[in-house]
Amino acid sequence: MTRHLLRDDDLTPAEQAEILDLALELKADRWKEKPLAGPQTVAVIFDKSSTRTRVSFAVGIADLGGSPLIISTANSQLGGKETPSDTARVLERQVAAIVWRTYAQAGLEEMAKDTRVPVVNALSDDFHPCQLLADLLTIREHKGELKGLTLAFFGDGLSNMAHSYALAGVTAGMHVRIASPEDYAPRADVVADADRRAAETGGSLTLYTDPNEAAAGADIIVTDTWVSMGKEEEKTARLRDLGSYKVTQETMALAQEDAVFIHCLPADRGYEVDADVIDGPQSVVWDEAENRLHAQKALLVWLLRQQ
Ligand code: CP
Ligand code: NVA
Repeated sequence: MTRHLLRDDDLTPAEQAEILDLALELKADRWKEKPLAGPQTVAVIFDKSSTRTRVSFAVGIADLGGSPLIISTANSQLGGKETPSDTARVLERQVAAIVWRTYAQAGLEEMAKDTRVPVVNALSDDFHPCQLLADLLTIREHKGELKGLTLAFFGDGLSNMAHSYALAGVTAGMHVRIASPEDYAPRADVVADADRRAAETGGSLTLYTDPNEAAAGADIIVTDTWVSMGKEEEKTARLRDLGSYKVTQETMALAQEDAVFIHCLPADRGYEVDADVIDGPQSVVWDEAENRLHAQKALLVWLLRQQ
């Protein structure tokens, strides 16, 4: 049966762990798996800007023996004249998988419905599950077992990253804390889904408005831009509303002594995080960025095995 990764909880806890194990194997032996030998093509479509996602999918697909076809929606029919469903039915006759960075989650769902090839969410307004696989891999490398660790996210709790930390974190059995103003708290349906998953794994999701309470004793400190792609018009309000959620040395001092700092990047130093944190000794953001490659290769290998 064709499997897709549209949101983090599309993977069961066991499947998530299997993909992370495979990612570690592929990191140790980069050219071990060639499921795309031929080469078969993978379509990688962008409605929004990208550096890491574009490079890591292009490199990863080539590492797996395949050929990446990078498509910008600005010069394709998708998004203007053609529906996601019709686009998918054209692509599936020629490509082994479809990777798509877009705005509405509904477009990804439409593309995946009845499509014979795996569809991967490379970031939507609601979730960024590929980033979370890389983040969990990075945390595993630096902290060992994920289960039982406390991860605290600061800032825009309604963002794709906060939603993905909620779902993927509890899937891994972690205790996820999201600190945001009330108006930026995660969506209620995502919280309910995370709570359901947490009940299976022993993890938890807790929402905070006080950033200091969220930071206390955390193993992983996380933030993301206050102005996600598509929210540029709200920039002034967001800088005002989210200002007290900046990650600083004071935040790090409240966390565990050996806490790590992660950020999906790109970062706005001086806004969501101070330079001395992201460029400091507890930051593992460059490992995290590299791990996009290994995690996404593992994901593609795993999805192609389910075909
Ligand atoms: N973290 C991330 O997805 O980066 P890009 O926007 O550069 O792809
Ligand atoms: N929340 C950010 C993540 C960028 C990788 C955005 O959507 O712009």
